[in-house]
Amino acid sequence: MRAAIIYTSKHGTTAKVAQMIAGRLTGSQVSIIDLKKVKCPDLNSFDGIVLGTSIYAGTSSKTMQRFCKDNIAVLTQKRLALFICGMEPDTSKRQQELTNAYPQALHQHAVSTCFAGGEFQFEKMNFFERAIIKRIAKTDKSVSDINSDNIDRFVQEINK
Ligand SMILES: Cc1cc2nc3c(=O)[nH]c(=O)nc-3n(C[C@H](O)[C@H](O)[C@H](O)COP(=O)(O)O)c2cc1C
Repeated sequence: MRAAIIYTSKHGTTAKVAQMIAGRLTGSQVSIIDLKKVKCPDLNSFDGIVLGTSIYAGTSSKTMQRFCKDNIAVLTQKRLALFICGMEPDTSKRQQELTNAYPQALHQHAVSTCFAGGEFQFEKMNFFERAIIKRIAKTDKSVSDINSDNIDRFVQEINK
């Protein structure tokens, strides 16, 4: 099986998670595609597709939203899995973020979905982002909270 992990990432966490997923997928030749660099990847060459986006202010990236909209017909023909990266602490809000991140048709078609956790990387944030996170998360320390267990479960479902 040929698989693609297609993602958008602002500060690199979703890229990191894409690499983690790639390392755990079995029996697949995996391409990792950054939508910032490859605007229109040729989806015909893949049997399975994993989509990943980070969440800012409750929403997925505009680039990923546009990509899903433009390719919905093809994506619903593939073995599909969806994940998000975020630092929302509340479990039901995490689920809401995941639900809102991708079109309903993709959720219905997906074999697995995942809240993969995230990171605050203060050194990569701009002034405004730093101020927002300091106020909301009440910290100015970089922290990594990538959820390896969730990622394992996610990949197990894909590997079935
Ligand atoms: C300004 C700002 C706003 C954020 N808003 C949210 C949010 O609404 N929900 C959430 O789950 N995570 C939020 N996050 C956390 C990011 O999703 C997290 O840092 C993620 O790991 C970023 O991934 P990336 O580097 O791939 O873009 C926010 C982070 C920043 C800096």
